[in-house]
Amino acid sequence: MTLRVLVLAPTQDTLSRLFDSIPKRGESMQVTQQLGGGAELSVAVLKGGVDLAVAELPLVGDPDLSLIEAALASQPRTTLILSCNESSSDFLLRAMRAGIREIVLPNSPADALAKAVERQFERHAAALGPARKARTIAFLSAKGGGGATFLATNLGFALASRERRVALFDLNLQFGDAALFVSEQKTTRSVADVAREIDRIDPAFLEANMLHPQPGYFVLPAPDTPERAVDVRPETIERMLGVARGRYDFVLLDVGRVLDRVTVRALDEADVIYVVIQSTLPYLHNAKRLIGVLTGLGYDRSKVKVMLNRYVKGDEIGVGEIEKTLGTEVVIQIPNSYATVAYSINHGVSVLKHAPRDAVSKSLADLAESLAPAPEQRRGWLRGVLGGR
Ligand SMILES: Nc1ncnc2c1ncn2[C@@H]1O[C@H](COP(=O)(O)OP(=O)(O)OP(=O)(O)O)[C@@H](O)[C@H]1O
Ligand SMILES: [Mg+2]
Repeated sequence: MTLRVLVLAPTQDTLSRLFDSIPKRGESMQVTQQLGGGAELSVAVLKGGVDLAVAELPLVGDPDLSLIEAALASQPRTTLILSCNESSSDFLLRAMRAGIREIVLPNSPADALAKAVERQFERHAAALGPARKARTIAFLSAKGGGGATFLATNLGFALASRERRVALFDLNLQFGDAALFVSEQKTTRSVADVAREIDRIDPAFLEANMLHPQPGYFVLPAPDTPERAVDVRPETIERMLGVARGRYDFVLLDVGRVLDRVTVRALDEADVIYVVIQSTLPYLHNAKRLIGVLTGLGYDRSKVKVMLNRYVKGDEIGVGEIEKTLGTEVVIQIPNSYATVAYSINHGVSVLKHAPRDAVSKSLADLAESLAPAPEQRRGWLRGVLGGR
C-alpha cells in the first residue's frame, strides 16, 4: 500500500516547514508538494489520487470552506488535515461539517500535526490493507418474500454509513435480485463471472466486479440468467468469501432458499445466520423446519437467529407465541412499512437515506449500531478544542 500525500501551503517557507514536520514512511508514502491556498487545494483534491492532504492555510474564509467541502464530498476517500490560525468554535463546527477530519491550531502541541498524520496513515492502512477479519452474516428467508434481500441490502447501507467496509454477495444464484435493491444501474458482472476466474480472485479483482452503491459498500450481484449458476462451485464460494473476509469489516450473504452444496458452504462461513420470518403460520411452519435443517447441518444453536420482519403490534400471532413455537428467541423485530420499503426497493436506494425517520429505518439503524458501534475517538479533535463539550 502506498499512501499518496499532498502537502500544500501558500509560501515556500511554510511549505518546507510543513513538509519537514510530516513523519515519513519510506515507500509506503508518496509525498507531493504544492504552493497555493484554498482554491488550489480544492482543485488538487478534485483531480483525485490524493489519499491524504495536509494543508496550511493561515486564514480560511467561508468561500474557501465551501470549495473544500465540495471537493471532499466528491472525493470521499480523501482525508484533509488543516493547519490554520482560526479557532472560533463557529469556524471549527463549520470545518467539521465541510468534512475536514483534523485541525491543527497555533496553540496545539508541537507534535500535533505529526500525530494527526500518523493517525490518518493508520486509518488508510486499515482501509486498504489486508488486515481485517469480517463478521460474516447470512440472511435466509423461511419462505419466499420474507424480506431477506431487503434486510440484507439495507443493513449493508446502514453499516457502510457507519464507516465500515461492507461486501454483500447475492448467492441466490438462480433468481437473485439484490442488485436491484441497491442500484438502478444495469449490472454487467456477477458472482458467476468471478467464479469462472477463480485463479484471479484477489481483493482488487473482486472489487472491480462489484457494484459500488455507496462509499465503503460493495455488492456482487447474482448471475442474470439461472443457467450461469453452474459456474459457481463450493470451492469458489469458499475462496471468494475467504478473500472478502480479509478485506471488509462485514460480509453479508443473501442466501435465497435453495439449500445446495454452494449455499451450505456459504453458511459454513457465516458467523450468524438470520432466519427471516413473518408472523403468519406458513412462515412459522417453514422456519421450524429450516431451523431443524440448520441444526442438522451441525450449526451451533447460537449461530442461528430469528429475525421477525413486517411485524405489527397486535398481530394475531404474537412474539411470545412465535418464540414458543420455534423454541428460540426472536432477536430482532422489523416493523411493517409498505410504502417506504417499496419506494426504497423500486429506486434502488437506501431506506435509511430515503426515510430516516421511518420505523423500519430506525430498527435497521439500531441493528447496525449494535453490530458496528461508533469508535470513541471520533471527532476527537473537536472535542479537545471545545473542551470536552
Ligand atoms: N419491513 C417491511 N415492510 C414492508 N414491506 C416489506 C418489508 N420487508 C420486505 N417488504 C416487502 O416484501 C417484499 C419481499 O422482500 P424481499 O425480496 O426482500 O424478500 P426475500 O425474502 O428476499 O424474497 P425471495 O424469496 O424472493 O428472495 C419486498 O418487495 C417488499 O415490498
Ligand atoms: Mg431475495
